[in-house]
Amino acid sequence: MGLVSAKEMLVKAKEGHYAVGQFNINNLEWTKAILTTAQENNSPVILGVSEGAAKYMTGFKTVSAMVAAMVEELNITVPVALHLDHGSYEGAKAAAAAGFTSIMFDGSHYGIEENIEKTKEITEFCHSLNISVEAEVGSIGGEEDGVVGKGEVADPKECKMIADLGVDFLAAGIGNIHGQYPENWEGLDFEALAAIQQETGALPLVLHGGTGIPDEMIAKSITLGVSKINVNTECQLYFQAATRKYIEEGKDLKGKGFDPRKLLGPGYEAIKEIVKIKMELFGSVNKA
Ligand code: 13P
Repeated sequence: MGLVSAKEMLVKAKEGHYAVGQFNINNLEWTKAILTTAQENNSPVILGVSEGAAKYMTGFKTVSAMVAAMVEELNITVPVALHLDHGSYEGAKAAAAAGFTSIMFDGSHYGIEENIEKTKEITEFCHSLNISVEAEVGSIGGEEDGVVGKGEVADPKECKMIADLGVDFLAAGIGNIHGQYPENWEGLDFEALAAIQQETGALPLVLHGGTGIPDEMIAKSITLGVSKINVNTECQLYFQAATRKYIEEGKDLKGKGFDPRKLLGPGYEAIKEIVKIKMELFGSVNKA
């Protein structure tokens, strides 16, 4: 079916009380692993691309062309959205022009007035191209692509102000952070999440920092309106552990074990394994 906006799949997820996973991609293997797992599990999927990852892959146009061609050549029929993760004002426009079908404009580091102004403009621009828009209120802690967020709990009234701009889904900080959670992490703030849902009604909510959140907290967040969950670090850790094992077992030294198509194989399979686990946990299997 080609790439689609993430709007419809997330409206359906919110109504159906499950969440769609956003899995971030870094290269061809990552993309292929996630797409084939989504197809095998008949699950909708969102491929997340940070500006840093897009730069690593040489630019938005390369990513967009690769993903579109892969969906076609692998006969992927489940809904797939290509989504810019934590886009800047300029990045959002560039990714939209390059064929991304969903954009996160992260204006959380601006004051609320400027966040509103810029989110409104990006939303109008994206909607004219049938591209879905995610906005953010209350920064998400941790480090991603060198950007360190201190992690704050979003103000429900500010969430309502951003929701009223007509964005398609909203990321609201509720004590979640990118990367692995520290030992002394206090968990998700469900009171804040409930208050945010109260203010934003049917709008699908997004949970960033999906790596390392206990399963029962994921399940509870879905009951409180979370319809999209972002996972990045966990795929990286699975890829790393499988690659390390392959090399530590000396498999790269045997026969043609040095061939990148063999060397990257275990990491590829490991990404497939964790993506399937997450799709089952989020409830998106057979929801394509
Ligand atoms: P993790 O790296 O913690 O899984 O977070 C991913 C994310 O929120 C991407 O926006």
